[in-house]
Amino acid sequence: MTSNGFPKDFLWGGATAANQCEGAYDADGRGLANVDVVPIGEIRFDVITGKRKMLDFEEGYFYPAKESIDMYHRYKEDIALFAEMGFKTYRLSIAWTRIFPKGDEETPNEAGLIFYENLFKECRKYGIEPLVTITHFDCPIHLIKTYGGWRSRQMLVFYERLCRTLFTRYKGLVKYWLTFNEINMILHAPFMGAGLVFEAGEDEETIKYQAAHHELVASSIATKLAHEIDPENKIGCMLAAGDYYPYTPNPKDVWRALELNRDNYFFIDVQARGEYPNYAKKAWERKGIKVEMIQEDLELLKNYTVDFISFSYYSSRVASADPKVNEETQGNIFASVKNPYLDASEWGWQIDPLGLRITLNTIWDRYQKPMFIVENGLGAVDTPDENGYVADDYRIDYLRSHIKAMRDAINLDGVELLGYTTWGCIDLVSAGTGEMKKRYGFIYVDRDNDGRGTLKRSKKKSFDWYKKVIASQGKDLE
Ligand code: BG6
Repeated sequence: MTSNGFPKDFLWGGATAANQCEGAYDADGRGLANVDVVPIGEIRFDVITGKRKMLDFEEGYFYPAKESIDMYHRYKEDIALFAEMGFKTYRLSIAWTRIFPKGDEETPNEAGLIFYENLFKECRKYGIEPLVTITHFDCPIHLIKTYGGWRSRQMLVFYERLCRTLFTRYKGLVKYWLTFNEINMILHAPFMGAGLVFEAGEDEETIKYQAAHHELVASSIATKLAHEIDPENKIGCMLAAGDYYPYTPNPKDVWRALELNRDNYFFIDVQARGEYPNYAKKAWERKGIKVEMIQEDLELLKNYTVDFISFSYYSSRVASADPKVNEETQGNIFASVKNPYLDASEWGWQIDPLGLRITLNTIWDRYQKPMFIVENGLGAVDTPDENGYVADDYRIDYLRSHIKAMRDAINLDGVELLGYTTWGCIDLVSAGTGEMKKRYGFIYVDRDNDGRGTLKRSKKKSFDWYKKVIASQGKDLE
């Protein structure tokens, strides 16, 4: 522990996802994925939730992931900027279809493998530890069309092949891996989370939990493989976190909050403890949900739990059992009851730094495994001045208050935290809305919602601020 309250080897850094920043969607043999075919605009939500089938580009829509911020061709410049801020780690994801363009091939695409190999080497050149999400919402379109995405058990074979390829090829270059980004998003954005599209009359709940089962088993398979291939590997699960508070002390509200928290923690209960919790088995029984599983699955879940728990945190949530309490606030994909005590971002996401400390404590109490905050940040409209400079004090305020909360959780509560990567350390395409206007970065990228702009990168005020935070190991937050 340093005197500043953060462990000496604390991993400060930033995070991105392939489809939200790489662009180059068809370069060097890359295949098409679900994340490519989600357009900006009103229709987006129906597509990411699997209600509107869109498995290819359609006339009349704009698809921001096609070009994104073109990091595929500019990663050296971008990593140099991360290094200038003093990043100890950089969280990024692999685009599955760069490695296996269709998903079910026997042999990987060498050009895709080389791209990430070079990228990891570039990180290492600056002493930056890569933290790699194996799947950040992406699923090859061919696997969706042919097998129905994660509803199919065959996905286990393809995912295992992907993992084996990555762990073998990047042995010594990458040590920290996350199996599925925000695994609980299957329940809320099933096309994005699991490549699911629903036909009329289908039992959506059952399909979602079947897909969840497959991802959970796949995650254990990945853990097993990772440890076999390199005992140095550390595998994490990843949750879209943010605890539910009861709206009032009415026990019915407390119970509702408990239920909603369980909907999310269900995934981590399995990944961290190694078995399905009784409350889930009972709920499935009551709802008539039958998830097909074999004995070997249960053994994998039991024997290969994760090494650490990572999560994204943007806001807490609120639960009420009273249907009259229905004023909603926007949030990370799914809305919740509005908390009257909190301010909100321009996108209506409520801001609650203490909620981060609460969430860290809940997770620590529940699992006692090391944690990693792999996403946190403020999506805001940035307006550059005449010199192209963005004075983003609002972002600095948001991050400062959350870093303080995390410091309290470490120092005053004793939770074990490995690191902190802010979301969208460079401006990128929003996952929820497809906008560029919703920016999170320390680095401004000249591009708008319609894809216009030079893609030029420039440092915002928060760039120098975060550099100081890292250099002082979290002491200088002013
Ligand atoms: C998380 C995702 O849901 O939140 C990211 O892991 C996403 O991919 C981030 O970008 C912020 O959400 P949004 O909708 O503002 O991009």
